[in-house]
This record gives sequence, C-alpha cells and structure tokens, in this order.
Amino acid sequence: MDTKTRYEKLVRELNFHLHRYHVLDAPLISDAEYDNLYNELKRIEAAHPDWVTPDSPSQRAGAKAADRFAKTRHPAPILSLANAFGADDTRAWFERIRKLDARVEQAQFVVEPKIDGLSVVLHYREGVFTQGATRGDGEIGEDITINLRTVRSIPLKIPVNRKQSSAIRVPDYLVVRGEVFIPIKEFEALNQRLAEAGEKTYLNPRNTAAGSLRQLDPALTAARPITLLVYQIVHAEGGGIPTSQWKILEYLRALGFPVTDAAQRFDNLEDAIAYTETWDTRRDQLSYEVDGMVVKLDDLDLAAELGFVGKDPRGAIAFKFPAREVTTTLEGVGVAVGRTGVLTPYAILKAVEIGGVIVERATLHNFDYIAEKDIRVGDRVLVKRAGEVIPYIIGPVVGARSGKEKAYKPPTTCPACNQPVEHFEGEVAWYCVNAACPAQLARNIEHFVSRGAMDIVGMGTKIVEKLIEAGRIGDAADVFTLTREDILESVTKKDRKVEKEPPGKIAENLLAAIEASRMRPLNRLIAALGIRGVGETLAGDLARSFPDLGVLAKASAEDLQQIEGIGPNIAEGIVDWFGREANRTVLAKLKRAGVWPKTPKAEGAKPGGAFGGLTFVVTGTLPTFSRDDAKDFIESNGGKVTDSVSRKTSYLVLGENPGSKLDKAKSLGVKIIGEEELMRLAG
Ligand code: IVH
Repeated sequence: MDTKTRYEKLVRELNFHLHRYHVLDAPLISDAEYDNLYNELKRIEAAHPDWVTPDSPSQRAGAKAADRFAKTRHPAPILSLANAFGADDTRAWFERIRKLDARVEQAQFVVEPKIDGLSVVLHYREGVFTQGATRGDGEIGEDITINLRTVRSIPLKIPVNRKQSSAIRVPDYLVVRGEVFIPIKEFEALNQRLAEAGEKTYLNPRNTAAGSLRQLDPALTAARPITLLVYQIVHAEGGGIPTSQWKILEYLRALGFPVTDAAQRFDNLEDAIAYTETWDTRRDQLSYEVDGMVVKLDDLDLAAELGFVGKDPRGAIAFKFPAREVTTTLEGVGVAVGRTGVLTPYAILKAVEIGGVIVERATLHNFDYIAEKDIRVGDRVLVKRAGEVIPYIIGPVVGARSGKEKAYKPPTTCPACNQPVEHFEGEVAWYCVNAACPAQLARNIEHFVSRGAMDIVGMGTKIVEKLIEAGRIGDAADVFTLTREDILESVTKKDRKVEKEPPGKIAENLLAAIEASRMRPLNRLIAALGIRGVGETLAGDLARSFPDLGVLAKASAEDLQQIEGIGPNIAEGIVDWFGREANRTVLAKLKRAGVWPKTPKAEGAKPGGAFGGLTFVVTGTLPTFSRDDAKDFIESNGGKVTDSVSRKTSYLVLGENPGSKLDKAKSLGVKIIGEEELMRLAG
C-alpha cells in the first residue's frame, strides 16, 4: 500500500473508532491501539502536510486560536419553542393547532428529552464537517468551528460507517442542529479535579459547556468532557431527507450522529403526555440534565404548514418539568477537608424536598463564592438540584432578610485537626497543610481503596474513620496489617444494619478483599497513592515506563517529562511526592508487606513484555480477576486486549458463562486458556 492510500485508510479507520468510542460507547480496539494508529497518522501528516484533510482526527484539536468569533448567518432560522407547564397546557396547544388544521386530529407525535445544553448548528458539505455555529439570535450565530472540532462525538465526516449505511445518500449540503452539553457525571468529576487542585469549580454543566465552547483556545475546549445529541435537519441541498421527525432521528443516527435513545413515537396526544410525565421522576436516569420533554408533530410537512408564532414553531411544544429550585434557610456553613487538604464550605440547610429528594446539604463551591454572593448564615437561599449533581446554592433571597443574618467568616484553623490553614498564591482554595490531619488521612485511605485504585470492597468511610480514630491506620500501608480484631472493633452498629451481616462475616470479607488487592498491578497502586495530577491514565503510563515504585521514586523531573502527557508541573508534583519522608515510609512499609507489583519489562506495552505482540480477548467471569484486573494484567505484561475475536487474536481467556466469543474463537481455531494459564504464561 502506498503512503497516501495508507493515510486515507488511517483517517477512515480512526474516525470509525472515534464513533464507536464516543457515540456508540462500544469501542472495538484498546486506547493503546488507537494511539498507535493516531501516532502513525501524525507521522504521515508531518511528512506530508499538504495531504491533511479537514476530516482528519488531528484537526480536532490544536487549531489556531482566533481573537473573536466571526458571525455567520444560518441557512434557515434556528427556532425556539413555546413552553407548556403540565398536561393541560399541552392539551391546550393541541386544541389550538387542531383548529388551524383538521389533520392534526390524526397526527402522530414524537417525544424527546429537552436537553439543557447549548444549541449548535453543524454544516456538512459533501459529507465533511465544514462549519459549526452557536444559535445566536436565531438568524446569526458565532462561528465556533475550531472548538466544535474538538468535540469527539461530532462526526467530522458522514456517513461514519459507509458499509452499514450504504443505502443512505447524503445531501451535498446538509445542516443539522443539536444540543451540546456536559454529562452530569463528567461534570462532577471535572469539579472534583478542580477542587483538589485548589481551583475554582464550575456552577453547573450548562454554563460550563457554554463557556468552554465560546472561549478562544480550542485546547481548553478539547479538555472539557463535552458531547452532543442531534435532533433536527435545518437545511438540505442536493439529496432528499425524511419528512417525519421519527425518520429524521433514525436517519441522523444512521449517518453516525449521536441521537437520544429516550425518544418515542405515539399515535395520539394522550399517550405522548403519559410518556412525557413518566420522565419527570425518571430524569435522574439520564446522563445529562433535562428541563422537560419536547412534544413534536411527527409529520414535518404539516408542522411547517402550521407556521410559527414569533420564534416558536406551532408544530412542537416544550413540556417543562417543575424546576428543581426551592428556597430554604441556611442554618450554617460546614467545612469539609479533602484529600489534598483543600477546605470546601458546604451549606447546612433546613431540610427541604426538591423533586422527591430531601436536601439538607448543598455545595457552596469555595469561600470566595460565599463572599461574592454575600451569602449570610440565616439567609433564605435559593437551592437548585439537577440530576445527580450535588445541589448548589444559587444565592440569597435578599428581600427576605430580617437583619438577623450573620456574615460568614472562613475558618482560620482546620476543623478536623485545629492546625492553622494556609492560602497559596493564585489559588482560590484554603488548605490544611498538616500532613497528619486525620480528615485528610481518611480521604486518602478512601481514595487508596476506591474502585479505580486498590479496589478493596467493604472498606467504607465509617470503618476507615473508626480505624483511624483507633490508631490502627496511620497511612495507606497500614491497611495491609489490619487484623480481624481491628476490624471487629471498628464495625459500627450502623454498618451492620446496612450490611445485614454478622460482624465476623464483615471482617472476613474485608480481610479477603484486602488480600485480593495485594495482586493489583503497578498502575493501580500508583493511582492509589493519590499523587496530585496522577489519575488512572497517567498511572498507566508511569507503570509502563518504570518497572516498580522503587525505580519510579528515583526518577527526576527530566526523566518523567520524557513521558507524553507529563509536563513540568506534574513531573515536579511526582518528584515532590516521592521526596517526602512520610511517603517514603509508606513505600517502605508497602514493600515489607509484599505489596510491590512489578512491570515485567520497562518497555511495558511495547513488544518485549511476556505478552509482547500478543492479543487477548477476555470472555465470561474469571475466578479471581475482574474484567479490569485482567486487562491491566495483560497490558502490564505488554499484551493487547481487544473486544472481539478475530484471526489476529492470540488467546481467548475463558471464564464462566462465556458469550458468543467462545464459539467464534473455536471456529477460528484461536487458542483458549483460563486465568491460571494466563498467569503461568506471564511467568
Ligand atoms: S426542537 C423547531 N428538540 O430547547 C425546532 N429543541 O427551549 C425547535 N432543545 O432552542 C427546537 N432539546 O436549544 C428541540 N430535543 C429537542 C431539544 C431542544 C433541547 C433546546 C433548543 C431550543 C430550546 C427551546
């Protein structure tokens, strides 16, 4: 294959895998495999800059920043929606349009989530993403193409998968509309990262998404977990498109756009209303925030004929859910101590129900926020709860003040250890810098035993705090010296009620979980240490580059910066962590306790490990390894793990209740092994 053909193939393949990963949530290759292909693409592009196509994945990030965004006229008005508050309002809408056109009587309806995000308009010429804009005033928006290119669920070329959608002819010029947003979980994780780093947290997913798309450095947008769902075709030239909303959704999905799977079509309005109402209480099940459902006439020709009132089309209505905002009294301000010592204020509220949940605590973000909003103890405050996001205080109801409210003063000492708190230049946070602070230790241990780290099931907050109080845990390594007696003493009545098990059984299970965790591979242990800036991904990179913690501890900042993704700040952070006396003690204790995993070869994932050049597929439940463990184990031995069996698969690792992968492996003559043999192969 000549280089040009190879390059074109890479662009197609990488876009296909991006779609599998970001839109379908069903990747076919590992991240490492993806990175290999991507690096190859980058090498070719460096040698042949004139070949770079606009749909190349490399064009998603790093494009040049502009001073401000150019204005762009939309090919058709980007309309808004009229609101209905409840079923009767929705019936009244139906009556209004039925009087205008009798066909409405027989109409079908499509109900879709009304995503609380930011409307964007995406242009595709000859199937290639050429422009993306904000809604603006509905006529003219801002050209934010460079930022939208970094949103990985936006296809750069459609159809994404030609084979599957070969019957689809894409119009020469297609303009679609969708909503961009940050999923709730990602938002929480982002805020947690920011809080731990002492930076300002964001108020809500919507503002964060909007702000990220309208800032001028695309690298910043790329770093935000933004995604989108598409629901409308605004304009099409040179090709037909469906004339029913339901078919539009199917069509957009087939082209490779992310489309909601919570939409449904109904033969009559009452069924549509009933479905809409079920989502009011179920909205927490969605991964994003919604403020209602949109009820649309399925027949788009009929909808168009009905016209609009102002900017609202008559053919659709937004059925708004009751806002999850209430007012209540701020009874006090508590202060939580995080893993890195960051102090975070939270609101202690007079208990209040918001959308079926009793709320007594809400975040206040940081001390500056309290001052900026002039939030006083005793104030009536407006509280918002959205999805699973921790409720937050929007602000005080100033008009409701009696004069008895008290301004809040941030603490000068740590609420857990009473040591003076400190503030660092350039950060908003206040820190407790006492390395022996029990609250910090508790958060550290919680992190150490958490799922992505040592994964010690059963070691909950209560037990951890008790063990610290009893002096049985002074650092993470002490987890491995716990005895049955230690645990029995720390199991509280409350734990027992939750667990519904005798304390002896709880202790046994916990000891077994601790024992099992000794086998975690190096990357998990590195992630567990809680080094600032070192998450799961970076821990994996470090584990591949260093054979064990002893060698990593000796690495200089320069050594560390050889690894892609590690800049001077993180490198310094790592060196600093390993330089601290207390941490060196933890390492020595871990080594003595035999918790000292090794990467077989410094080269790790590159060919050369025991599994170098080999590809594995895992199916069924393995006796001791979880799916993640098995993957970590194989990768830390230099092997690759993929999701589907092919001729290239070296081994199928077989567990109980295997899926169809077993049949496929048999039919292709792929070698089949169990967990034990896997470990033997690794030596
Ligand atoms: S349809 C003619 N569908 O809600 C098309 N809008 O309050 C009119 N929105 O400006 C829009 N999810 O930004 C439509 N499934 C959905 C939506 C949706 C969110 C937003 C959209 C619109 C706003 C109106």
